[in-house]
Amino acid sequence: MMFQKGFLWGGDISANQAEGGWNEGGKSPNMTDYQLGGTKDIPRMITYQMPDGSYGQTIAFIESVKLPKDAKLAIIPDKFYPNHKATDFYHHYREDIALFAEMGFKALNLTLSWARIYPNGVKGGINKEGVDYYHNVFQECKRYGIEPLVHLYKYDMPAFYVTEMNGWLNRGLIEEFYQFSKFAIDEYKNEVNYWSTFNEINVQQFAILNRNDKQEYQEAYTRLHHQLIASAKVVKYLHDNYHEKKIGCMVAGIFTYPYTCDPKDQLLNQKSMQEYVYYCADTFVRGYYPSYSKRLFKELGIEIKVSEEDARILLEGKVDFLEFSYYFTNLSTIHNEDTELTSGNLMGGVKNPYLQVSEWGWAKDPDGLKFYLHELYDRYQIPLINCENGLGAIDVLEDDETIHDDYRIDYLKSHVKAMSEAIDEGVDLIGYTTWGCIDLVSAGTGEIRKRYGFIYVDIDDEGNGTYNRYKKDSFYWYKKVIESHGEEL
Ligand code: BG6
Repeated sequence: MMFQKGFLWGGDISANQAEGGWNEGGKSPNMTDYQLGGTKDIPRMITYQMPDGSYGQTIAFIESVKLPKDAKLAIIPDKFYPNHKATDFYHHYREDIALFAEMGFKALNLTLSWARIYPNGVKGGINKEGVDYYHNVFQECKRYGIEPLVHLYKYDMPAFYVTEMNGWLNRGLIEEFYQFSKFAIDEYKNEVNYWSTFNEINVQQFAILNRNDKQEYQEAYTRLHHQLIASAKVVKYLHDNYHEKKIGCMVAGIFTYPYTCDPKDQLLNQKSMQEYVYYCADTFVRGYYPSYSKRLFKELGIEIKVSEEDARILLEGKVDFLEFSYYFTNLSTIHNEDTELTSGNLMGGVKNPYLQVSEWGWAKDPDGLKFYLHELYDRYQIPLINCENGLGAIDVLEDDETIHDDYRIDYLKSHVKAMSEAIDEGVDLIGYTTWGCIDLVSAGTGEIRKRYGFIYVDIDDEGNGTYNRYKKDSFYWYKKVIESHGEEL
């Protein structure tokens, strides 16, 4: 096993899925605060109110919601909004970080809530209470020698940016994000050494999957262009001002294989990987749009204007490391007849007959992790961090307060083994932060029963429960893994 001494073992949580405190400490609502819970089969709805007082619900990607004329985002009384209290990290962070430390975490991947720091945009000024909250969180990490790896953005800008400014479609958001990021980088300079600009930046592309709507494609790629420019500007700011610190960006690792040996499946898969994973990563790692982007724009019937200034910004803002999530793999095929389908994060697809699936239908594929670690490292030759990986499953809290999650241990064990093999074979993987290291609200379904954590939080899908924390069997397992530098699995 080749995990280096300084390997960043740890876990990952995000503000809107863990913190709660949605209207506390001066925070303004973000889009996830208007999302109801769903299930694997029932989508999450965004709620609004009409001028006559009636309420409505709509399905939409949270960054691009279009409400009926005169409607306003609204909270419907008596409905349960899972992200409002989430798993209450906002009030439990001391206890939770102490538990992470007990497992021996070297790193904690987390996101800043933009709406907690600049609730009303840059013009509205900073919210000191929100700023202090993150100082407290980072100080707590420091106490235990845990390195915070901080994402500046994870689908949770203040909601008014979306409803009043048209979100990332508005180029003005670049400056808002840049000012917010500059502020955070300066403010937390004594506490944070690793930054990341966007979480799963390629998510825009999944939101428009199979829409066949030119306008939607145009808008999604425009939003993405603005995010890529914003990211590059922030990367340059950090490089210019803090030479010793590192900054990355992250893609959702929605990796696919060709389903058959039909060359047409190979081509389809190549296109799918280019479009959904490499398009963003190629741009923020290499500093320019990939050559196939021209073909892609043509096929989608869209136009993305990259001015000379944009091109310069992209080139000056190349990241130091690449972060990616990895949960499962999918298949690409033109042979859709007689194939069984399965689900997945952001994108479902044809079922791989060689793989088992989770309770939510996601195909478990540790070999795929090894495969894609090689692919990513060969392509980019910069350090990698696997910042999200894990198994969403239903756990049972026994009468004696134990939780026997051997299925999660098996899943994680096989993935750690895959990573160690890839490292042995030359991949520069510098960190592993498992997703939802403490139970939190599922992004896709809003459920809490879809648990990923080493630590169980006692609440149900309606928010009933004590919010007490309990260690699962995987807690003790991961502690041993970290202690032994990945030797004892
Ligand atoms: C990742 C997201 O893509 O998938 C997380 O970044 C999310 O926010 C995770 O929670 C798992 O997905 P889900 O739908 O099970 O929460």
